[in-house]
Amino acid sequence: PTKAVQVKLVLLGEAAVGKSSLVIRFVNRDFQENREPTIGAAFLTQKCNVDDRSIKFEIWDTAGQERFHSLAPMYYRNAQAAVVVYDVTKAASLDKAKSWVKELQRQANPNIVIALVGNKLDLVQQAEEEDEDAEEGTSTVRQVPQEEAAAYAQESGLLFFETSARTGDGVDQVFSDIAKSIPLE
Ligand code: GTP
Ligand code: MG
Repeated sequence: PTKAVQVKLVLLGEAAVGKSSLVIRFVNRDFQENREPTIGAAFLTQKCNVDDRSIKFEIWDTAGQERFHSLAPMYYRNAQAAVVVYDVTKAASLDKAKSWVKELQRQANPNIVIALVGNKLDLVQQAEEEDEDAEEGTSTVRQVPQEEAAAYAQESGLLFFETSARTGDGVDQVFSDIAKSIPLE
């Protein structure tokens, strides 16, 4: 077997959007209803095979609380990939995500692959099921329309996904599409 290519990946985004939950879902196939906020950052690794390539993600899961913002450059410096997370039920979290994207585009490695991820999709699906009369996509729980985030991602050159760390929906796709997008050295 060929040696795995190491890919340094950083997660950024507002507090409580589900960054740690996404990583735990990807690495441990597990979900916790009430997670403690991350302090500083957490480090995890996970291997992933895509096409004929074996990738080992070295993941820095950063803390979203504002008091940790100044630590972020330490984690995104030299990163080959970034996952910028927002919460589809919280409009302000997309604004925060956009400011992280701007910071990455200005300060990080110019070849960095950035994925924009709208998490907590299960809350929208759940609300739609409970309100059978509502037309699809009209849920009041959803505060960020998918088309709006997708259009922003496209014009900014980002990969785009919606996920649920709770159900696992879309989570593996984020990491496998990133793996496919990393330039071969
Ligand atoms: P910080 O470490 O403070 O930056 O937060 P974080 O972005 O790592 O968020 P975390 O993963 O700790 O999740 C915050 C809360 O949201 C927890 O109570 C999670 O259980 C919950 N949560 C995370 N992802 C989802 C999801 O996909 N769906 C639902 N319903 N809840 C989620
Ligand atoms: Mg966390």
